[in-house]
Amino acid sequence: MNYLQDTKPMTLVELGKMRAEGRRIATLTCYDASFAALFERCGMDALLVGDSLGNTIQGQKSTLSVTLEQMVYHTECVCRGAKRAFILSDMPFGSYQESPAQAMRSAARLMAAGAQMVKFEGGAFMAETVRFLVERGVPVCAHIGLTPQSVHQLGGYRVQGRSDAEAARLKADGLALEQAGAAMIVLEMVPAALAGEITAATTTMATIGIGAGSECHGQVLVMHDMLGVFPGKTARFVRNFMQGGATIEGAITAYVAAVRDGSFPAPEHCY
Ligand code: KIV
Repeated sequence: MNYLQDTKPMTLVELGKMRAEGRRIATLTCYDASFAALFERCGMDALLVGDSLGNTIQGQKSTLSVTLEQMVYHTECVCRGAKRAFILSDMPFGSYQESPAQAMRSAARLMAAGAQMVKFEGGAFMAETVRFLVERGVPVCAHIGLTPQSVHQLGGYRVQGRSDAEAARLKADGLALEQAGAAMIVLEMVPAALAGEITAATTTMATIGIGAGSECHGQVLVMHDMLGVFPGKTARFVRNFMQGGATIEGAITAYVAAVRDGSFPAPEHCY
């Protein structure tokens, strides 16, 4: 299959087929039209309009100050640039935690802006909200492990699920979110073995890892990290794909290829 020439729009059904057939899903954060067009030219399956734009675009210390209006704006920008890739958008802090109805109102804004799926953070306690949205036609990506919107609660950007009790809780969270209807889940900064166990226990939900080992159904990175332009400290799980390469296009194409063939993440990127 030639990914560069495949212009069929990516759908939830197609992502489900990729999962079922063991074809890894290459995902990258994206915040504007030009990079969206470039990323899909390089064969990217999915673009995440991440609230990491608080860090990468706005220079904030955390994602907590990102607003729904800003997410709508960047989702519209990305959607104008992309014709094929599947687009998911983050629900920012404070836009979904109060109630399923509040989450639905926020999700509707992102879907109207062009998102095909919304993502929000939290474990089993968010299952009711997942179900509420999915029943109303909104595909949901869950996000567990290191959940950056809870950075102060977690005491920093730290690996999650190291103890047996934490690992059991994360596994139970993942399965509860799948049962509630989440079609995807981001597993962030968890031991590779635990992410592998969660992935093996799913039946329909695709696991997308970031610092979660190579056994996930797909991978995501923050674009500024993998291009080596983020001025802050980068985590162990990041590989700078610009190193040894000459162009951004080459780096993105190399990332897609490394996700597809399972060579990224390598053991040195894992916990
Ligand atoms: O906002 C973001 O970029 C994310 C990734 C870290 C998965 O949620």
